[in-house]
Amino acid sequence: MSITDLLNNAPEQEPERQYYFIAEAKKIIAKKEAELGRKLTCCVTTFGCQMNARDSEKLLGVLKEIGYVETENENADFVIYNTCTVRENANNKVYGHLGILHGYKKKNKDMMIGLCGCMMQEPTVIEHLKANYRFVDLIFGTHNLYKFAELFTTALLNKKGMIIDIWKDTDKIVENLPISRKYPFKSGVNISFGCNNFCTYCIVPYVRGRERSRKPEDIVNEIKGLVADGVVEVMLLGQNVNSYGVGLEEKTTFAELLKMVNDIEGLERIRFMTPHPKDLSDELIEAMATLPKVCHHMHLPLQSGSTEILKKMNRRYTKEHYLGLVEKLRARIPDVAITTDIIVGFPGETEEDFLETMDVVDKVHYDSAFTFIYSKRTGTPAAAMDNQVPEDVVKDRFDRLLALVQKHGHDKVKALEGTVQKVLVEDVNEQDSSLVSGKLANNVTVHFPGDESLIGKLVDVRLNCCKGFYFIGEQV
Ligand code: SAH
Ligand code: SF4
Ligand code: F3S
Repeated sequence: MSITDLLNNAPEQEPERQYYFIAEAKKIIAKKEAELGRKLTCCVTTFGCQMNARDSEKLLGVLKEIGYVETENENADFVIYNTCTVRENANNKVYGHLGILHGYKKKNKDMMIGLCGCMMQEPTVIEHLKANYRFVDLIFGTHNLYKFAELFTTALLNKKGMIIDIWKDTDKIVENLPISRKYPFKSGVNISFGCNNFCTYCIVPYVRGRERSRKPEDIVNEIKGLVADGVVEVMLLGQNVNSYGVGLEEKTTFAELLKMVNDIEGLERIRFMTPHPKDLSDELIEAMATLPKVCHHMHLPLQSGSTEILKKMNRRYTKEHYLGLVEKLRARIPDVAITTDIIVGFPGETEEDFLETMDVVDKVHYDSAFTFIYSKRTGTPAAAMDNQVPEDVVKDRFDRLLALVQKHGHDKVKALEGTVQKVLVEDVNEQDSSLVSGKLANNVTVHFPGDESLIGKLVDVRLNCCKGFYFIGEQV
């Protein structure tokens, strides 16, 4: 069938339209398999955050339905990069990888290459790809990912040139598309998409669009389906989970959503990413304290400890407000693990500002922290600010910060030594197959003797020996 015929015959409704393209692509792939006398392989490579990881599971879901066999080897019949653009080095990684793919493609004339994700939402990236990477077959963005089956089928039939489809924004959420999970026992679950916060350093609001929430019943139904399929832990995903409810007809708060999810029978653990300090409500703290399935782990991005810098970042909280939140959290949930994200070297950051950050880190004693060197993202307000901090100064501050967060992280882990805790077993240890590896509620890794029958189970483990950032334990 020609592309035009195919598009003319396709149903208008979603997700039916995508299932129609899946069925059509399946026929094309089956023919190809018969010609080659082998299965076709696909490789989905993910850069960036949990949101992207979840999107990749959606890509893989479609590809498997079509008939592809998954491989981790990038020398495959179809390779797609789901990209991130939050920092400059994320972009550079993709360009580097593309060169390698070009080499593979020269040897396999049937190979197709796709690019999607946040980086594709930047017009300069598309121009660069068009000029320098003509061998890429398919490019699309974050807003039309639900149309992957349709775009892929078009690219299959297209044969020559790139198919490029980028949307500026969308208010649409399409439910019930195929998904292929990476882990049988745990899963990310989107609760909202996009971000309206516009922190001045951050590209996410520009590439992920305006914030919109999924309906609570869609979220709950998805999780019920996951539980029926063996999932015991969910991670609720959104750029700012505690502003969940934006745009819903029937207002539901994030704490109310947590309660609904907590009520799902068979589910054992609930995590979430990411709450924003400006919206961290008492209701949410109460929900964490009282709902038994919600892990006592709060990832609360600080970004900077200097009120002056926080203002320039448009974070809309002060150092004191943040410290007050931590105090409240610890008072209500004494065993809560608090982790964070910190940016060093935001434009105009002085040594005094940096010492304010060190002061917060010292006072909070984080369980762990992701530390980032500020990366200038074209198009964001911060990129145009004066007083960009010299590289050597940033590097020095970064090293000092890293040393401090690592020391605290180590102390925090050590404090649990000798206690018995619940571990969700994730896999057999790669280095030593007599051990299995799993995670505590606070996300710390534990290895202990066991076999694969324990995978996906929550077991009580005594944390015998702290090895820096992980434990060796034994089942009790
Ligand atoms: N929505 C989440 C996370 C967004 S991106 C939040 O608000 O916390 C994850 C982390 O990347 C951010 O918390 C921030 O620390 C970091 N980040 C974002 N933009 C950055 C930039 N331009 N340079 C360096 N780090 C950045
Ligand atoms: Fe970026 Fe701020 Fe939105 Fe997080 S809250 S995604 S840091 S703009
Ligand atoms: Fe990166 Fe996009 Fe996530 S820019 S951090 S993959 S939302």
